[in-house]
Parts: sequence; structure tokens; C-alpha cells
Amino acid sequence: MPGRFISLEGGEGAGKSTQLKRLAEALRARGLEVVETREPGGSRGAEAIRALLLQGEADRWTAEAEALLFAAARADHVARTIRPAVKRGAWVLCDRFVDSSIAYQGHAGGLGEEAVRALHQVGSHGLYPDRTLLLELSVEAAAERARSRDTGGADRIGGRDEAFHAGVAAAFRALAAVEPERFRIVDAGGSAEEVTARLLDALEDLQ
Ligand code: TYD
Repeated sequence: MPGRFISLEGGEGAGKSTQLKRLAEALRARGLEVVETREPGGSRGAEAIRALLLQGEADRWTAEAEALLFAAARADHVARTIRPAVKRGAWVLCDRFVDSSIAYQGHAGGLGEEAVRALHQVGSHGLYPDRTLLLELSVEAAAERARSRDTGGADRIGGRDEAFHAGVAAAFRALAAVEPERFRIVDAGGSAEEVTARLLDALEDLQ
């Protein structure tokens, strides 16, 4: 039986990485093979591209070059890590996937959704997750968490202004509305245990 491909999406500070680990543990406890991965990255080549994308000056890349680099990293990640794992029956949990490119580069970055989807078609043969969990946190709660966490400085993209991140959040919500079968919006507020339970609920029909 083929496995499942699940992505976690959301803005900065929604707790995706913590929840991805917790979700992986919960699914392993049910006897599943779980692969935890992330974007940009998740394969040797894609991790090399990650450094190009997240380090350096804010204007290091044009919007077009940035979108191509994300698509290139994703192509390698899909071919080398995701497809083989799903084929052998594993559940792949991915911290961000193509919806991040649509929201960040396509909408907030101004390149357009169609261009990003076209790159994804070429790079990754248009692979989409079986389920996308969109973690949503109110702007105030996200800012509060970011303050108390002290992330040691945002990266090239995380450091963009508030209007950019508001554009990202609006784009994610619009994507979820258009594809209700694939997306589940999950409230990221409350304790870590509560959020993990909500995420597991949102996967119940896939098991
Ligand atoms: P990361 O350190 O993984 O941040 P986070 O904890 O917020 O997921 O950095 C990834 C950054 O890259 C983040 O700011 C979102 C951005 N990004 C894009 O702009 N487009 C993409 O396709 C992906 C996967 C990430």
C-alpha cells in the first residue's frame, strides 16, 4: 500500500516544526513508518540550495530567480526523498511545500500563482500532498510567540515586512478555501498537546 504525503503550512511562529515532530511521534506509535522532512531542503541537493535561498542580502535574488531556486530544490527533494518514501509505504510529513511557494513567491512576492504552478509542473511533475495542514495563529499570538522565542534573527525571507507576511497569510487562507478536500485549517493556539490532537483529527480519514 502506498504511503501518504502530508504537508504543514503556515506563517512564521505558528509552531510548525514542533508540531511536525509531535505528529511524527504520534503516528509512529500507531505503527507507521514516518519520514520527517522540510523545505527548502530535505535532500542533499536541496539542502545546498537552502543556504543560497535563506542566507545573504534581502535583494540577493530577483523574484524570478528565487522562485526557480525553490522549484529546483523541490524537484530534487521530491525525486530523491518524497516519492521513494511514499512508494515504499511511508507517511511523509513535510514542513512547507509548494503552497509556500504559491503564497510567498506567487502572491506576496508578486510573481503570480500560475507561474509558480507551472514551475512546479516542470520540476516535480505537479506532485501535490494528500493533505495539507494549515496552522493558523492570530497575528498577536504569533508576534507574542516570536518575541518570547528569540529566534536569533530572521532569515532573508522571514525578515520581510508585516505587509508581506499579511499577504502570505491571506494567500494561504484563499488556497485552503479553493481546495477544501486537501486542506484543513488547524487552530495553532493553546497547548502543544491540544494542537497535536487537532492535527491528528485532521488526518483521521487518511488512515
Ligand atoms: P525556515 O527556517 O524553514 O522557516 P519556518 O520556520 O518559517 O518554516 O525558512 C523557510 C523560509 O522560506 C520561510 O520564511 C518561508 C520561506 N519559503 C518560501 O518563501 N517559499 C517556499 O517555497 C518555501 C518552502 C519557503
